[in-house]
Amino acid sequence: MAWYDKYNFNAYEKDLADSIQWEKAPAHIAIIMDGNGRWAAQRDLPRIEGHRQGVDTVRDIVKACRHLEVEVLTIYAFSTENWKRPKWEVKFLLELPYKYLQEDLQSLLDNNIKLRISGEAEALPAKAREAISNALDRTANNNGMIFNMAINYGGRPDIVQAARRIAFEAREGQIKLEDIEEKFFANYLQTAGLPDPELVIRTSGELRVSNFLLWQIAYAELYFTPVYWPDFKRMHLLEAIYDYQTRRRRYGGLEEE
Ligand code: IPE
Ligand code: IPE
Ligand code: MG
Repeated sequence: MAWYDKYNFNAYEKDLADSIQWEKAPAHIAIIMDGNGRWAAQRDLPRIEGHRQGVDTVRDIVKACRHLEVEVLTIYAFSTENWKRPKWEVKFLLELPYKYLQEDLQSLLDNNIKLRISGEAEALPAKAREAISNALDRTANNNGMIFNMAINYGGRPDIVQAARRIAFEAREGQIKLEDIEEKFFANYLQTAGLPDPELVIRTSGELRVSNFLLWQIAYAELYFTPVYWPDFKRMHLLEAIYDYQTRRRRYGGLEEE
């Protein structure tokens, strides 16, 4: 009996799972979920229909990552640049975390998943903030997987807020300039305590990082797929992991013998 037998893998997924060297699988996967609007346009549906479907994908991928024993899954739900979109779309996007947690908090609890937020959540509507703070509390002691939602997140604002807090503490004499090295700095980022993502996946064929986790992805492997986020399934995740573990990560050094 294979470890995946309880997860209803199809023949293709089984094949991928058997080919993956799981000891080389990424501990932290970060995903830029893109292509909801184009998915909807392709079907003559309003953009928000794409976002709605996108939430179903989130649900599936959270579960899949948990089953595959991923330690941290970060998803980019709303960027600091997404405020430029029309008001109605911004409103819809910012309500999604609330709706998601309404429907899925129980499943996070059942699956021993701990919620985490990266980004300035204070800017979210009150309802969403309450749902988030409740979910953070209730999942705080879970240790099966960390599900990190990047909401109102930007890589540059993240670095700037860290620099500002460090400067403040230095001015107050709480820290010395010599304390400020890379590990120290990383502890002021919104991902403090999380390992850096080894694998970044972006759907929809766009080849850019759009201000996502800039510091944290310094040495991440990037994986781009043309699949739109609402169409992204467990098999695509397995494909990305398979691709990732075939790569030679050299970190500027030479190949190990
Ligand atoms: C990604 O889909 C969802 C978010 C940015 C929150 P888009 O809305 O960017 O979809 P496209 O890129 O217009 O297809
Ligand atoms: C990146 O997607 C932001 C999120 C997935 C939340 P966008 O669709 O907003 O990015 P651009 O506009 O293509 O850079
Ligand atoms: Mg997009």
